[in-house]
Amino acid sequence: MDALRMLEEFPSQFSAVECQTLNPEDYKGIVFSGMGGSGIVGDFMRLFLKPSVPVLSVRGYDLPSFVDRDWLLVCTSYSGNTEETISTLQEGLKKGARAVCISSGGRLMEMAKRENLPHLPIPQGYPPRYALGFMLSTLMCLFGMSAEVENIKANLESNKEKIKTKAQEVAKSMFTYLPIVYGTPLTETVAFRWKTQINENAKTLCYNAFLPEMHHNEVVGLDNPHIRNLCAFVLLYDPEDHTRNIKRVEITQHIFKELGIVLKVLVGEGNSLIERLLYLTYLGDWLSLYLADLYGQDPIPVRVIDFIKKSLI
Ligand code: F6R
Repeated sequence: MDALRMLEEFPSQFSAVECQTLNPEDYKGIVFSGMGGSGIVGDFMRLFLKPSVPVLSVRGYDLPSFVDRDWLLVCTSYSGNTEETISTLQEGLKKGARAVCISSGGRLMEMAKRENLPHLPIPQGYPPRYALGFMLSTLMCLFGMSAEVENIKANLESNKEKIKTKAQEVAKSMFTYLPIVYGTPLTETVAFRWKTQINENAKTLCYNAFLPEMHHNEVVGLDNPHIRNLCAFVLLYDPEDHTRNIKRVEITQHIFKELGIVLKVLVGEGNSLIERLLYLTYLGDWLSLYLADLYGQDPIPVRVIDFIKKSLI
């Protein structure tokens, strides 16, 4: 399936799946493990789950030392063969943590079978980053959020054309510039998804910085006109952000205006934070495809990632 078609069909990936649900409060904490397109789902879940226990998202080989047998480890790898994610599963099993695996197959599925762990399957045949909706729906349903999954689908379907039009406009503004995508504590995950989709689909660099931290460093860097004139700036925020961060969005807009730099400020549409974040995610996915088109790039292959994975064997 080509990239355009996969993105057209992205809303339908949000479909409730049948599975046994878990109660986050039954654990001392929850750690999501995954890399790249499979890692971002853990960041989303950290935002969506609001339990009284800690929820972490880990990208790498090791688990934090405090994860023990009373923790839940959720390993997500689309291919099932990502070595960092497998390493965390091995470590989690040694620590006696309870584990759940999500993949389209691969070693993660084999390990889950061998160790008698729950394994939730994802449809095969997609580049991992294009299967975000499947992975997220599965995780949301695992934690009893199937109603929200259906709401995301309806919101994306009804706003699809508007999202595509906006994405085209933003992509044009980024063409031949270095995209800088700013976020807030609530939109940080989406801003990072924009970066990674621009990297992998449009094959170009892109950077993030986040409020409120960027008000303590990044903003000073804007002083240099030689560099800032090479960049295209976007800021994503949500109305539910901390009121002081909303104030900081306004201050940021003022700073950009004074410097005469264009800053596109975007908010998602939807009835809940979850819907709005997926709205912005879909917008970023589309713009990365339009940007790929402007650069004459095929969005699908990620040859250097494949090379790195082969070099590590
Ligand atoms: C490729 C992509 C990558 C992979 C990452 C981890 O489309 O998005 O970021 O997601 O290399 O691989 P998986 O998802 O198979 O664990």
